[in-house]
Amino acid sequence: MRIGILSFVAGPKKLAIGTKRIIREAKSRGHKVKVFYSPYVGLEFGNGKKITYQGIAIDPKKYDVIVVRPGFTQDPSINASIIKQFQLAGFYVLNGYIGVFRAKNKIRTLQMLDHFGVPVPKTLVVRDPQLLAQASEEFLFPVIIKVIFGTHGKGVFIAESKRSLKPIVEYLIAKEKGPVSLQEYIQEAKGCDLRVFVLGKKVVATMMRVAKSGEFRANFHQGGSVQVADLSDEEKRIAIKASQVMGLDISGVDILRTHKGPKVIEVNSNPGIEGISKGSGVDVAAKIVTFIEHRVEKYGVRRKRPLPKRLMKE
Ligand SMILES: Nc1ncnc2c1ncn2[C@@H]1O[C@H](COP(=O)(O)OP(=O)(O)O)[C@@H](O)[C@H]1O
Ligand SMILES: [Mg+2]
Repeated sequence: MRIGILSFVAGPKKLAIGTKRIIREAKSRGHKVKVFYSPYVGLEFGNGKKITYQGIAIDPKKYDVIVVRPGFTQDPSINASIIKQFQLAGFYVLNGYIGVFRAKNKIRTLQMLDHFGVPVPKTLVVRDPQLLAQASEEFLFPVIIKVIFGTHGKGVFIAESKRSLKPIVEYLIAKEKGPVSLQEYIQEAKGCDLRVFVLGKKVVATMMRVAKSGEFRANFHQGGSVQVADLSDEEKRIAIKASQVMGLDISGVDILRTHKGPKVIEVNSNPGIEGISKGSGVDVAAKIVTFIEHRVEKYGVRRKRPLPKRLMKE
């Protein structure tokens, strides 16, 4: 295969370890890999070129697939448009625009999941600090506060009392120039969450992340550690459904174990590979490359089969 990788860093030195692993694995199987760094991708309209790299048009016939590693938090709509442009130019893209765009926005994520029956914690979007007093009546304390475009646990706060909630929310609404969400705190999760790595309709690896002492966020970036996780069938089913509802091919679903069953808190469109490979003992990069091979077999553009209509919709 000829694989293009779309990365949102500025050059090879900044490539994420997970992306490097995918590249190494693909090359070891004899595939050709070319990395496109997003700052050098040109979107062109009205001149028939559509998409360029370092100023030169890229030919979709020369690539079987573009694998996207959407490691951005800034300007999600602009960055997601780069992904879309590859699709509109006729490339077969994994993870496509729509899934990434939804996953980057925590409101849109919960909206999709809730609408399609995936259990999520009780969450209220607050857009006006004046309505906060009323909103906070809906929750027991402590309560979780989240910014809409956060990642790695940055932008997730906990307020132990009404008194501490108000200044946090006021500050965040002003700083973010937009809404924040209040969410019920799942105390019984005890600082643990499940990360479920989903490829297509399959769970390929899972781990439990445990927050370090004195911390409620289980993210690695906040010092979380890993334990082996044994998922129930229901947890697996929910993770797969969450990934499908979002429209993602490659995803990392975060689940909290609650007294009322598993609840999904977010779906990552750029799930890390290193931590989960260590935590689960599964070579996730190898699983990804095998998945890509199967998908290209099914939809690969170089094989001259037209892309299914649903993949070409604007
Ligand atoms: N409602 C909640 N109750 C308890 N802990 C939570 C809740 N929401 C998030 N957390 C903790 O905070 C971490 C980060 O939250 P998450 O929504 O996944 O944001 P991020 O995108 O920054 O990872 C989670 O992994 C979990 O450990
Ligand atoms: Mg998370």
